[in-house]
Amino acid sequence: MWHKLAGSADVVMNGMKIVATAQGRILLIRTAKGLFALEDKCPHQEQTMDGGLITDSAVECPWHSVKMELASGKILNDMGFLGMPPMKTFPTKEEDGEIFVDFS
Ligand code: FES
Repeated sequence: MWHKLAGSADVVMNGMKIVATAQGRILLIRTAKGLFALEDKCPHQEQTMDGGLITDSAVECPWHSVKMELASGKILNDMGFLGMPPMKTFPTKEEDGEIFVDFS
């Protein structure tokens, strides 16, 4: 089921927005590769990704620099964290200037 989380203009290119929802904090990120939605909970110590470095296909946690792939949530850099579960990801769509995320 699709949930409206933000306006399209709220998530600028190479920017992020964190939205509090009943499903927890959701991280919206827009890059040249698309619009991504992930659970805003780092697999390492469950910290927020707020302020993390964004590249086209990844986000780096601002706390201890673990890097996650935006499309899959999978950990990319081997800092002893590769065995950890990925960040949860969700499908996104944009319609009429609004961003929707599917939590089902
Ligand atoms: S909390 Fe994200 S890398 Fe440690």
